[in-house]
Amino acid sequence: MRIGLIGAGHIGSTLAYLCAEAGDEVAIANRHGPDTLRDLELDLGRHVHAATPDEAARFGEIVVLAVPFGQYRDLPAAELNGKTVIDASNYYPQRDGRFAELEDGHVTSSELVQWELPGAHVVKAFNAMRWDHLRSYGHSAGANRRYGIPVSADDSDAKWKVFDLVEQLGFEPVDAGGLADGGRKHQPGTPVYTADLWAEDLRERIGVDA
Ligand SMILES: NC(=O)c1ccc[n+]([C@@H]2O[C@H](COP(=O)([O-])OP(=O)(O)OC[C@H]3O[C@@H](n4cnc5c(N)ncnc54)[C@H](OP(=O)(O)O)[C@@H]3O)[C@@H](O)[C@H]2O)c1
Repeated sequence: MRIGLIGAGHIGSTLAYLCAEAGDEVAIANRHGPDTLRDLELDLGRHVHAATPDEAARFGEIVVLAVPFGQYRDLPAAELNGKTVIDASNYYPQRDGRFAELEDGHVTSSELVQWELPGAHVVKAFNAMRWDHLRSYGHSAGANRRYGIPVSADDSDAKWKVFDLVEQLGFEPVDAGGLADGGRKHQPGTPVYTADLWAEDLRERIGVDA
């Protein structure tokens, strides 16, 4: 599969590494331009190439947003039309600035991303596990027990595509619901956030039937 990554920091470079290991082709972008990503490109090998955000968005069958949430209005919306877009970002007011609509709890950060990208199918995933754990926990648990990754989306086809990707990376997807109800269950401050749970425990904690 072709994966576009917008954001090349802790979480973006980790997902690039995992996807390349799994046999995907990856385009990865940051804010400062492809020339600043040449070392990362070399480290990650021939399945990963540096790109601009527009190029990464066009390249990916699935595109991952791995930027600070506060940047969500600075995304290539036109290039993301029709794409499955994974929102791995989290809202941290001390980093992102205060968003009144999030402070009063009426909407989730991934709903704001979806509204900003009306032509894309936004799926919230990979936001709730630390990058270094994500990098090493995927295939560590054995065939019968895997760590769970909560996934929320309003579009079921996009959600299934992301389920497949989560599986490919060695984790078990756990359906948390839509962007509004599900997104609330795995954002910062919730009991599952960075809790590193086995899939069955994650299901129980967020109230999903097996
Ligand atoms: N760190 C974790 O363990 C973790 C785990 C799950 C989810 N998350 C979430 O994932 C997001 C990224 O976190 P991180 O720790 O990976 O951050 P990070 O290490 O600071 O990396 C952020 C990346 O985003 C890029 N970026 C910023 N604004 C951009 C823009 N407008 N267009 C394109 N690229 C842009 C940066 O590019 P430049 O370097 O060129 O500025 C950098 O490559 C956050 O929302 C975070 O809450 C983090």
